[in-house]
Amino acid sequence: GWMILDQYQFQGFWCTSVLIQSIMAFQKHFQARDSDIVLATVPKSGTTWLKASTFAIVNRHRYAIKNHPLLTSFSHDLVPYLEWNLYANNLHPDLSSKFPDQPRLFGTHIPFPSLGTIKNSNCKIVYICRNPFDTFVSAWHFFNKGRPKSLAPLSLDEAFDMYCKGIILFGPYWDHMLGYWKESLKRPHNVLFLKYEDMKEDGVFHLKKLAQFLEYPFTIEEERNGVIEEIAQLCSFETMKNLEINKTGKFFPHVENKMLFRKAEVGDWINYLNPEMVERLSKVIEERLGGSGLSFKYVF
Ligand code: PPS
Repeated sequence: GWMILDQYQFQGFWCTSVLIQSIMAFQKHFQARDSDIVLATVPKSGTTWLKASTFAIVNRHRYAIKNHPLLTSFSHDLVPYLEWNLYANNLHPDLSSKFPDQPRLFGTHIPFPSLGTIKNSNCKIVYICRNPFDTFVSAWHFFNKGRPKSLAPLSLDEAFDMYCKGIILFGPYWDHMLGYWKESLKRPHNVLFLKYEDMKEDGVFHLKKLAQFLEYPFTIEEERNGVIEEIAQLCSFETMKNLEINKTGKFFPHVENKMLFRKAEVGDWINYLNPEMVERLSKVIEERLGGSGLSFKYVF
């Protein structure tokens, strides 16, 4: 499998045995609140960016930019994953001590149908989606860096073949996207569907949209004072990549924080995929997402 050695189909997606335990604990114990904010993604599609941006928006009255927690903390600590952090190791954590303040901010890679009590609550879900070509290339780099040294690196061809078959952690990615996409059409007040490429193109516009959706809209005064630009800057790839905490910290034994900051470009896949690969993946995407209304920008 990808990075991990054991991989199972669980509730329709690919998962490791350790994660299955965590997700089952989450499904059993987690009680969603209407005030919760859940940031959902497939891995490598902009999770770190979305977590930072959301944290900055909802906490903007609490911290001055100069000594903002985002400058010294890892965004995945500020906004923990339900499955990787909070319910990891089958824990039943005391969330009240972890989240003294409202709203509670969570990250997750769990597909929509498996979200337990979140599905039927009135909480806000933000999904960020990235074109499946760049997501693949990003994932290939990431999972290879995190692979135990004792194993041979995973070749691009082998990884790509599995990806096209949907075999990747939390995959098939198109099913994951479609689950949230459909929900965002059904319940636009509860599910906001963002795209990585759009955020890159017009960060300020999408931060405004995100703040509006979360019911933390920027005031005219804030707009005039450049608060949105300040947040965009704080959460930008360039700023985050160069922070000490992101250059030196460790997330998991095999995962260094710096592995989350590679290139952050739209269209880097051009440097990796040959024409046959492009044709094959395009076909899969057309088959699985055609007619759904979900489409992507692939290059800038
Ligand atoms: S993870 O492991 O799921 O949390 O990874 P995720 O953050 O979703 O994806 C990592 C890719 O996002 C790029 N990145 C960013 N882009 C824009 N702005 C910011 N702040 C940012 N931080 C990380 C990162 O470089 C990875 O993409 P690639 O293409 O590999 O560079």
